[in-house]
Amino acid sequence: MRVTELQNWPSSLPQRHCHTSAQPWLHHHSRVRGCRRRYGRVCATAEPAQKAKQLLVYAPNHPLLRHWLAVARSKMSPPPIFRAACAELGRLLVYEAAYDWLPVLESQVETPCGVADATVVDGSRPVKVIPILRAGLIMLEQAATMLPASQTFHVGYERNEETLQASSYLNKLPAKFAEDDRILIADPMLATGGTMLQLLADLVGRGASPTYIKIVCIVCAPPALQVLNRDFPGVRVYTAMIDSELNEKGYIVPGLGDAGDRAFGTEKL
Ligand code: URA
Repeated sequence: MRVTELQNWPSSLPQRHCHTSAQPWLHHHSRVRGCRRRYGRVCATAEPAQKAKQLLVYAPNHPLLRHWLAVARSKMSPPPIFRAACAELGRLLVYEAAYDWLPVLESQVETPCGVADATVVDGSRPVKVIPILRAGLIMLEQAATMLPASQTFHVGYERNEETLQASSYLNKLPAKFAEDDRILIADPMLATGGTMLQLLADLVGRGASPTYIKIVCIVCAPPALQVLNRDFPGVRVYTAMIDSELNEKGYIVPGLGDAGDRAFGTEKL
């Protein structure tokens, strides 16, 4: 999606000014702060999240993300292909989310030919990874092996198809988080945001800080972004695409359909 297509969206979210775009809240910038266009990525702001008082949404404009998103979107993709696409998307989005975020240690290593300065991820501070079952698991299939130090805590929510309200059926979260624990949540679809609001409230209740929480999702929609921005400013969302709307069943349009059913082959035929 090009920035020009997002000009009037989402009108009720707070706007942040940047010289590179007519749509200030969502704009191109590079991973290097300073809004350079070299990487052609779309994101909300170049400011560090610790200072941010709004939700930050990153939608990198990367050809691999676009490719695997097309594969995931296609209704012709059978479960194994759909899963492979979601796993690739998860890996790419976790890579983006990890940038400039993981605690590191400066050190040195001996190579066969000498000594090299080395930067290593601090293993004493593992990222707390939270997949939301079912489909969040698929996003982490390949991503988990990329993080040198992580702990995984599973949560499961079920959506009532009539009220669209989510209720928890599994919660493996630790009793307490440290305020500076880095928390990475994986859920492919951010539609109404109901599930995510419940989970974030639970995390904050256990000591987590929204400014250390990142969400990776494949597709998101304005209703979810608006409620997250209202209740949890400072959280950051990494997504392959922001779609425009939800249908009457709360599904994202065009979206992917039911990500859990498509991943596990449980679609009603
Ligand atoms: N959950 C899904 O699996 N798909 C949607 O579009 C919304 C919620």
